[in-house]
Amino acid sequence: MRQANVERRDAATAVVRDGREIISSVISSQIPIHKRFGGVVPELASREHLDKIVPVVSEAFERAGVTAKDLDGLAVTIGPGLVGSLLVGVSYAKAMAYALGKPFVGVNHIEGHIYSVAFENPPIEYPAEALIVSGGHTNIFFIPEPGKYKVVARTRDDAAGEAFDKVAKLLGLGYPGGPIIERLAREGDPKAVKFAIPRMGDGLPDFSFSGLKTAVTKHVRETGLSPVENGDEPSQGIKDLAASFQHVVVQSLVQTMEKIADEYYPKTLIVAGGVACNGKLREVCREMANQLELPVYFPSPHLSTDNAAMIAAAGTVKLQAGERGRLDMNADVTLRLQNMDLEEEAAKRAGVRYRL
Ligand code: KG4
Ligand code: ZN
Repeated sequence: MRQANVERRDAATAVVRDGREIISSVISSQIPIHKRFGGVVPELASREHLDKIVPVVSEAFERAGVTAKDLDGLAVTIGPGLVGSLLVGVSYAKAMAYALGKPFVGVNHIEGHIYSVAFENPPIEYPAEALIVSGGHTNIFFIPEPGKYKVVARTRDDAAGEAFDKVAKLLGLGYPGGPIIERLAREGDPKAVKFAIPRMGDGLPDFSFSGLKTAVTKHVRETGLSPVENGDEPSQGIKDLAASFQHVVVQSLVQTMEKIADEYYPKTLIVAGGVACNGKLREVCREMANQLELPVYFPSPHLSTDNAAMIAAAGTVKLQAGERGRLDMNADVTLRLQNMDLEEEAAKRAGVRYRL
């Protein structure tokens, strides 16, 4: 089975076989466009999408050596994300499916990140626990079987990637912040600055990263540390701060994953999303998984950040299960990935206790 599909911020298309083999994957990165603004500018993103979608789709077919007629179906991101970019993708994919007479499905972007581990890893054994950690999201899902999701931890404020980006910006380091902070952290002391892991007053295993950004600002102010200017070599103080910040973010993520694994007994751990590129996060996750004697799967780095292959992988499962999108399918900016609470509610109403 092969699919072409389209993505959210960066226009991207992939042709994939059976949801497990990438034939071609093209991403038109918008990082150079948004870099000078220190973050994504929605209006620029949608215009760029419009410009790039046709060449990106053609290039994916060309590199794969197939034509649109060879496809069995199409998958497209329907949300969550920026409305302009989503609409470009959804409209294009629907028109293409209609013209070709092929089936299509809409995919949740976060579900796509979960399926990014479908390539280059053994098949996922369920139940699974997935940490999806990116610039827009920080959630842990419990997945008892394919397609069933329960959010067991979420961020109360900023996403972890957003925290990396904001801290990098306030230290004068550039965008996106994650890779830059990771690089500097290698030369810094993670114990130099003591940051506490934020805990929730209500005892839930949720995350909070905005306080950490404030703590970094306070540290900079109180110690008189100078942010980096004009691409100068960062001082040791900045490197230590980068390492300490990264350390507390990684500890917060991994400790919570472990706590949830103790409670839910997953057979597979999944860590995906842009922040999953982080080498330290991978290392600490592997140590934790070894201790729990569980396999942990990461996407290869080029599949950790946004890409179209992961959307095709998630879409393949839906198409194979007989799901079909309709031509009135629309983008949903705030689309959530959680369907188990709903089932629990329905079961309660029916007088049955739904058990995991
Ligand atoms: O998944 P993604 O490409 O886009 C969203 O859906 O948000 O994730 C981008 C995020 C950015 O915030 C970026 O700073 C972060 O992933 N990121 C990293 C690393 N590489 C990318 N964070 C920490 N360490 C990295 N090596
Ligand atoms: Zn993403």
